Amino acid sequence: MACGTSSNSGDTSSGSTPGTTTGAGNGGAAKVAVDQVPVGNAVVIAGPKPYVVAQPTAGKFVAFDASCTHRGTTVAASEGLTLECPAHGSRFDGATGAVERGPAASPLAAVPVRREGDQLLVG
Ligand code: FES
Repeated sequence: MACGTSSNSGDTSSGSTPGTTTGAGNGGAAKVAVDQVPVGNAVVIAGPKPYVVAQPTAGKFVAFDASCTHRGTTVAASEGLTLECPAHGSRFDGATGAVERGPAASPLAAVPVRREGDQLLVG
C-alpha cells in the first residue's frame, strides 16, 4: 500500500484552521496518515488539542485525549503502546487508555477515530 511518497506530513502551522473537512464539520478533528501509526504503536498528534492514536492490532485504531488525567500534561509515546507523562511519570496503556502506573488514577479519555482513505480523523 505504500505507493507514492509523502507529500504533506504534518503541517503544524499554528493558528490556521483547515476549512476542508469532509462530512463532519466539527472543527476539532485532527488528521494523521494511517502509515504513521504502525501496528502495535501509539503516537501523539500535536496540535491545539493533542490526541493519542494507536493501532493495537492490525486495522483497529483507537484514540484518546492526550491530556494526562493527573494534571493535564500532554503524555508522550514511550515504547510500543505505552504512553508516559513527562510531568510525574504516570503511564498509560495506549490500547485502552488504562493507567499502568500512577499518580494518575483515571484512564485517558477515549475519543472517536475513523479512517478515511489513508488518513485517520480523530476527535
Ligand atoms: S500531570 Fe501527568 S503524571 Fe502528573
